[in-house]
Amino acid sequence: MRTKLIAGNWKMNTNLADAHVLANGIRSEVEHIEKIEVVLCPPTIWLIELAHNIPLGKLPHLKLGAQNMYFESKGAFTGETAPEMIKEVAEYVILGHSERTHIFHEDAELISKKVKAAFAAGLKPILCIGEDVQDENSKTQLAHQLTELVAGLSEEQIQTLVVAYEPVWAIGSGNPATAEYAQEVIAALRQVVNAETRILYGGSVTEENAKAYLSQEDIDGLLIGGTSLKLKPFVTVCQIADDLS
Ligand code: PGA
Repeated sequence: MRTKLIAGNWKMNTNLADAHVLANGIRSEVEHIEKIEVVLCPPTIWLIELAHNIPLGKLPHLKLGAQNMYFESKGAFTGETAPEMIKEVAEYVILGHSERTHIFHEDAELISKKVKAAFAAGLKPILCIGEDVQDENSKTQLAHQLTELVAGLSEEQIQTLVVAYEPVWAIGSGNPATAEYAQEVIAALRQVVNAETRILYGGSVTEENAKAYLSQEDIDGLLIGGTSLKLKPFVTVCQIADDLS
């Protein structure tokens, strides 16, 4: 049984006061939700505050995640955050997001190192993958890319891994993939991983379109950007996922 997962990627948004209000609002609204996991990924700098403020142990289905990390444990890496540092305050970490690959030029080799380092530190990676432009080869190319990214991981790690299929053209564009297309790609990605690996869809998810994705056989949850910054719509998506579980 794959537990549905709804992750909110806040990206580089919120000040500390807003982060508190949003996280506390979500916490009280999802208190009764039990069948799914909800992962909040605020900017790294707010993680420690939110970890103190959200009684995570009391709400075992509400988790924190980071949006990025470096693969080294310590040393002269100005501006970076080590996996072990993230582990003190969060359970998940988003890796390989297209904004990291496009703006910060992260390549597959670096992302693979980060995935391995996350596991070594006891973190659960949410590994993003998605095509820049949609064409008939996308599915095959993505399956090939994922095969390379997970090479060297143990079966157990592949089972723990969360994959997020995020077509780049759908991110922040208001032009989401259809649920049928997302299902088709995700079914192909599933062949590369494990029957237990959770695979999410991400890209212009709203409270209106969430149900269509969550009703698909292979889609185990959503990675949400813009909508995760809005309390009511985000909580509505969590409720839809819980109702479908
Ligand atoms: P979006 O972002 O929901 O705003 O399209 C998704 C993401 O980048 O993870």
